[in-house]
Amino acid sequence: MLLLEKNAMTEEIELLVKKHGNSRSALLPILQDIQRKHKYIPDFAQQEIARLLDIHPVEIYSVISFYAFLNTHPKGRNIVRLCQTITCDLAGKENVAKAIERELGIKFGETTKDNRITLEYVNCLGMCDQGPALLVNERVYPKVSPEKAIQILNEIK
Ligand code: FES
Repeated sequence: MLLLEKNAMTEEIELLVKKHGNSRSALLPILQDIQRKHKYIPDFAQQEIARLLDIHPVEIYSVISFYAFLNTHPKGRNIVRLCQTITCDLAGKENVAKAIERELGIKFGETTKDNRITLEYVNCLGMCDQGPALLVNERVYPKVSPEKAIQILNEIK
């Protein structure tokens, strides 16, 4: 009889289900753990989570889409997120965005060829009185000018 080896991703998710439980409230912690390890949540992982938690895959996809820190595709080693909400917009977000795009030679939504940086827009980062706000990985930078943005980019490894 042919014994099929269990897929490594399935095993990983089974362990996460053991750790977090198989209720609906376990979904976000499981997704966060996969995101932390793989830097994104592959399609197959979404299907396996859906199967093991008995949730429709569409619901899993909508949770991933809702949270900016969860991704369905691989991204750069560093994620640079610029707030696009109205207060930061009025504070000069557009000039910061242009400076960043010019410096890296990519647009928001893209990743540099060397995989160093992915650019994304996000909604309010809770720093509205200190905009434009920039989130680099897990660190928030307030009052970012175009010059300061370039300086921040140059510090990213
Ligand atoms: S509007 Fe940009 S941080 Fe709130």
